[in-house]
Amino acid sequence: MKDKTFLMIPGPTPVPQSVMLEIAKHPIGHRSPEFSQVLKEVYSDLKYVFQTENDVFIYTSSGTGAMCAALENLINEGDKVLCLVIGNFGNRWAKIAESCGAVVEKIEVDPGEVITPQMLKKRLDEDINGEIKLVTLTHSETSTGAANDIKTLCGIINNHGALSVVDGVTSVCAMPCKPDEWGINVLVSGSQKGFMVPPGLAFLTADEKAWKVYEECKHPSFYFDWGAYRKSVRANSTPYTPAVNLICGLNSALKMIKDEGIDNMNARHKRHALALRAALRAINLKLFVENDENASYSITSILPPEGISVPDIRKILKEDYDIEVANGQNQLKDKIFRMGTLGYVCDRDLISSVGSLEAALSRLGHKFEKGAGVRTLINQLNKG
Ligand SMILES: Cc1ncc(COP(=O)(O)O)c(C=O)c1O
Repeated sequence: MKDKTFLMIPGPTPVPQSVMLEIAKHPIGHRSPEFSQVLKEVYSDLKYVFQTENDVFIYTSSGTGAMCAALENLINEGDKVLCLVIGNFGNRWAKIAESCGAVVEKIEVDPGEVITPQMLKKRLDEDINGEIKLVTLTHSETSTGAANDIKTLCGIINNHGALSVVDGVTSVCAMPCKPDEWGINVLVSGSQKGFMVPPGLAFLTADEKAWKVYEECKHPSFYFDWGAYRKSVRANSTPYTPAVNLICGLNSALKMIKDEGIDNMNARHKRHALALRAALRAINLKLFVENDENASYSITSILPPEGISVPDIRKILKEDYDIEVANGQNQLKDKIFRMGTLGYVCDRDLISSVGSLEAALSRLGHKFEKGAGVRTLINQLNKG
């Protein structure tokens, strides 16, 4: 009997039943008054979640679509773009910028590490002629489990004058991310992460400074064109046929987020991530990002114990406990495994996951005090 999968990967994430039931309804016309009302609510609630007064666009795509929508509407051939790379998703910004004809420079650190304010400030201070037009950043780097201090980094970028373009795909909802307050010029995210909706929608918000740069973009994207989307948002509409059912599901998920409160939702992710980290340490596991200060609250990367393979751990969790955890990506494949605590996750999910992980590791011969993980987890969760 297997119909209780717990998706402990960093997306897609578990979806609440009420959201699934909304999505299962018969589609409604995308130009109908009923759908226009849904869009009105969704556009307003997205501003609440993104903590911005600016419009938030909904694209029918995965998160990468919104990343393309950001750069393709800002970059002209030959523009200089500085990409802050702490993992695969930071590198994705660089690849997209190159595809737009930008001259790309990277500041890159080893996987698991983050960009320090000093590194960024030093490079931007050297740019005395203001040649760097745009800086791309990743908030929560899903491939490693590290998280950049976006608030500080965007402050430095603002002082220089370049645009900050931030990937909030696994941070929005999970970690404080305040574009208006912190001066993030462009922020993108995706539905299948903290939003508790299946894959298929992506979001983008841009401030006035970014709009000025858009106005100078000679060949903006056609499908993702900001101008077309802004016009539609303001008419409670969409430029093209959207994923109607997913947007109805999003409407219901956003109501849940508002009921919980965005600050409480952020706090829940922090509480879960820190409790999980403590539990993993208690069963003699090493964390890939050792310093809690640099860790993402949506994804935790773990090194397998000496002599035990990542595929074996994942196999037992999947086959015997119906829990999916993620492998490492690219050069980190089989070197780490990643446990997501993103979106629709409750204490019970964590208690059963840590218990199941203890059971799997014990069968694989790992030496640790049985029960120490679950005990530590519960103690941490009870502290609040
Ligand atoms: C940090 C980050 N950025 C971008 C993406 C790309 O999103 P998608 O796979 O939805 O295109 C992901 C996906 O996992 C991600 O975690």
